[in-house]
Amino acid sequence: MKILITGVAGFIGTNTALNLLKKKHEIYGLDNFDDFNSIKLKKFRLSKLKKYKNFKFQKINIVSRKLLLKFISSNKIDTIIHLAGQAGVRYSYINPSKYISSNVIGFLNLVLAAKINNIKKILYASSSSVYGNTNKFPLKENQKLNQINIYAVSKMLNEKIAETYSKISNIKFIGLRFFTIYGEYGRPDMFLFKMFKSSSTKKKFYLNNKGNHERDFTYIKDVTLILEKLLTRRTRKNVVLNVCSNNPKNILKITKLFQKQNRLKVKYIKKHKADILKTHGDNTQIKKVSGFKNFSKFNDNLFNIFDWYKKNKIYNL
Ligand SMILES: NC(=O)c1ccc[n+]([C@@H]2O[C@H](COP(=O)([O-])OP(=O)(O)OC[C@H]3O[C@@H](n4cnc5c(N)ncnc54)[C@H](O)[C@@H]3O)[C@@H](O)[C@H]2O)c1
Repeated sequence: MKILITGVAGFIGTNTALNLLKKKHEIYGLDNFDDFNSIKLKKFRLSKLKKYKNFKFQKINIVSRKLLLKFISSNKIDTIIHLAGQAGVRYSYINPSKYISSNVIGFLNLVLAAKINNIKKILYASSSSVYGNTNKFPLKENQKLNQINIYAVSKMLNEKIAETYSKISNIKFIGLRFFTIYGEYGRPDMFLFKMFKSSSTKKKFYLNNKGNHERDFTYIKDVTLILEKLLTRRTRKNVVLNVCSNNPKNILKITKLFQKQNRLKVKYIKKHKADILKTHGDNTQIKKVSGFKNFSKFNDNLFNIFDWYKKNKIYNL
């Protein structure tokens, strides 16, 4: 299959591409090397993908509609996996307009280019953030949403754009509400890799809200297998699915578990206004629709991923 992966130099994009390249799909990747996270890290990830003959890359900003359209039109793409975008909840308080341009305008450009090229399917990244603050757990796809930041609003708008274009085009949409994805090639701005860096560089680790948060951590390798299965599964014209392990973990407990084997100096700080206290998703639908059933256990992976982190010195530059 000829698959376009946007945001291919990012965390989820690289892992998704690696899995599909190994399965002999033709992967067309694009990324604009946004500087929200280290550009060196993005180039490092990309160097792993460039080893495959079935991989083609172009640097494109999805906000520029013409370039995007040209790339899609000239490569006869079958399916799009859309992972490009401005990630991170906290940064949406600092630079909200970037979320509207990359996440909303960028996604609309992609959908319009897909429509012109008669592309049949788009899988796209939404987020657990669309649920916002609630105490109704586990979170189900059909429950009321309550966004509390512009990041979440941008993802909700993606879902609305998909719903609309599923009615006025031939494109099938699968929206993926990712819940705290973790693993190899991970994001340096997220909890786990920040903790790894503090430990490796012997610097203080600042723990928001004294670690009194719960997150439904979901392993990246599970995510890549789910995405692979969704490429060929029959679905309705527009679906939105939680991508989560249905197994929330307390951040303080994880920190303490890590400290049993590794040196880590923790400084407790107050809650960040962008953070929600808990995420815990229901994964009945994703299991049913994708056929993927066996989610990895966080505690089984933690130390292996730290070993991987230590071998990849790029993270401490
Ligand atoms: N990692 C998670 O836990 C998580 C959770 C919920 C949702 N998501 C969403 O999943 C998607 C992928 O997340 P990730 O963790 O891999 O993030 P990431 O930041 O590692 O990857 C995103 C990639 O998109 C690229 N990009 C940004 N703006 C672009 C633009 N205008 N044009 C082209 N490329 C652009 C970046 O350079 C980056 O390489 C994002 O939309 C994110 O919001 C991730």
